Amino acid sequence: MKILVTGVAGFIGFHVAEALLKQGMEVVGIDTLNDYYDPSLKAARLTRLEPYPRFRFLNVDVTDPQALQDLVELHSDLEGVIHLAAQAGVRHSLVDPYSYVTSNVMGQVALLEACRHLKKLTHVVYASSSSVYGRNQTVPFRETDRVERPGSVYAVTKRAAELTSESYAYLYGIPQTGLRFFTVYGPWGRPDMAYYGFARAISEGRPVTLYEGKGLSRDFTYIDDIVRGVLKVLGKPPESGMSRIFNLGGDKPERVTRMIALLEQDLGKRVLVERQPRPVADMESTWASLEKVKEFCGWMPEVSFEEGMKEFCLWFRKYHGV
Ligand SMILES: NC(=O)c1ccc[n+]([C@@H]2O[C@H](COP(=O)([O-])OP(=O)(O)OC[C@H]3O[C@@H](n4cnc5c(N)ncnc54)[C@H](O)[C@@H]3O)[C@@H](O)[C@H]2O)c1
Repeated sequence: MKILVTGVAGFIGFHVAEALLKQGMEVVGIDTLNDYYDPSLKAARLTRLEPYPRFRFLNVDVTDPQALQDLVELHSDLEGVIHLAAQAGVRHSLVDPYSYVTSNVMGQVALLEACRHLKKLTHVVYASSSSVYGRNQTVPFRETDRVERPGSVYAVTKRAAELTSESYAYLYGIPQTGLRFFTVYGPWGRPDMAYYGFARAISEGRPVTLYEGKGLSRDFTYIDDIVRGVLKVLGKPPESGMSRIFNLGGDKPERVTRMIALLEQDLGKRVLVERQPRPVADMESTWASLEKVKEFCGWMPEVSFEEGMKEFCLWFRKYHGV
């Protein structure tokens, strides 16, 4: 089976592609390797994928309709698409909102336009985000909750992508599943995310910033659980013309203070904490209801926060030589 993975040099895309390759699948991976965070980390991830004979990498922008058209002509036997390319990160969407609209909305439309030409395509699985729950206060967040109060342009673009997929399923029969990921972490993670930034600060002896108030909590989800969820869902496409959405979360919200304590323990260093007001775009807490995905395919997270953080720290120390 041949699968297209977009955002293949990214954190989740890399892990998903590696898992597919290990299962003997053929993977066409695309990415622009942009410099939102250190591109050398993206290059290092690709270096790990290159030895697999069934892996092809192409530097293709998901917002470029012609490049995507060329790609689907060259790989007309693609049977699955896992769309993970995006401009990620809530806070940066206050700095450069345009890049989110381009990559996440135009990207979704251009990719689905190209998918219309894939005759063997059985399923498009794409990344959405817990951010779509926006300023909702009632937890756990359920897929049936209203999602009309986004707290950032990032959230707006992720919801727009979901709606785009819904319409392409209806108009052209492309079966699709959107996965709302909740704070994914682990080895080869994203340096712009708090746990990674805190690990950096701790290892360099710099203070970390905590926000005032009762403290943020996040439903951290370990990368291996996410990969297992993506592959499980990929193998169970909806009928032609249908699209659906599932949460994938850790099922156990953790306070940021707990994350710091684990990092201190696993990196073997104490840290100084500075306090600042909470940025307005940051959600106070996230927590995924997993009833729907559990009922659909039995998926539940398996890796505890303690185990996951330990694995991340082991990788972090090795990769950064600390
Ligand atoms: N990591 C998380 O906690 C999390 C949470 C919720 C949702 N998500 C979503 O999951 C997906 C993967 O996230 P990630 O954490 O791996 O992020 P990432 O930034 O590591 O990966 C995204 C990749 O997409 C590439 N990319 C960006 N714009 C592109 C474009 N126009 N064309 C081609 N490639 C492009 C980037 O170079 C990057 O390698 C994204 O859609 C993100 O919004 C992630």
